[in-house]
Amino acid sequence: MAAAKRKTVRDYIRTIPDFPHKGIMFRDVTTLFADARGFRIAIDQLLDPYAGTRIDKVVGLEARGFILGGAIAHQLGVGFVPIRKKGKLPGAVHSQDYKLEYGEATVEIHTDALQPGERVLVVDDLLATGGTAEAGIRLLEKLGAEIAGCAFIIDLPDLGGRARLEAMGIELHALCD
Ligand code: PRP
Ligand code: ADE
Repeated sequence: MAAAKRKTVRDYIRTIPDFPHKGIMFRDVTTLFADARGFRIAIDQLLDPYAGTRIDKVVGLEARGFILGGAIAHQLGVGFVPIRKKGKLPGAVHSQDYKLEYGEATVEIHTDALQPGERVLVVDDLLATGGTAEAGIRLLEKLGAEIAGCAFIIDLPDLGGRARLEAMGIELHALCD
């Protein structure tokens, strides 16, 4: 009898129509995170392209980038830095406004979160228009960090994020699109 096909990362992700607004097909990774094997293979696969690369810190984009970024930082044995939505960080911050698929927002980073020249891996669950990732990268540039790359679970290429980041010279990898 043939062995059952092993689930891929994509198989653990579910789609919820019309969330948070009508017309948005929301790619929900909570079902991936909730599965021990799914979460482990996702973390391992996000790290694969960076094997042997120097990474000094992992930067997570709020909110699901925190879950992924914390696990990746732990696996690499490096520190974790959050980029948060406006008003959440207690210390002095740099701020950057941006547009996303369904609204506008501002992200912030502590001004002392990184030293100039530190090489960072930026992590989030999903790349859509690239507005969030670009805003995060702008904040990292203000601190003089080097971007080793950006790692996503999902890329929605029709929304232009990949092209936008590649035009900035950013290396990026996604597990599925
Ligand atoms: C989602 C997702 C990314 C962003 C991608 O977060 O987790 O961070 O959108 O979209 P973009 O490429 O068009 O910028 P969301 O803004 O919904 O915030 P949340 O994680 O705090 O729920
Ligand atoms: N962020 C922006 N677009 C999204 C989508 N379609 N699913 C989940 N998160 C998103």
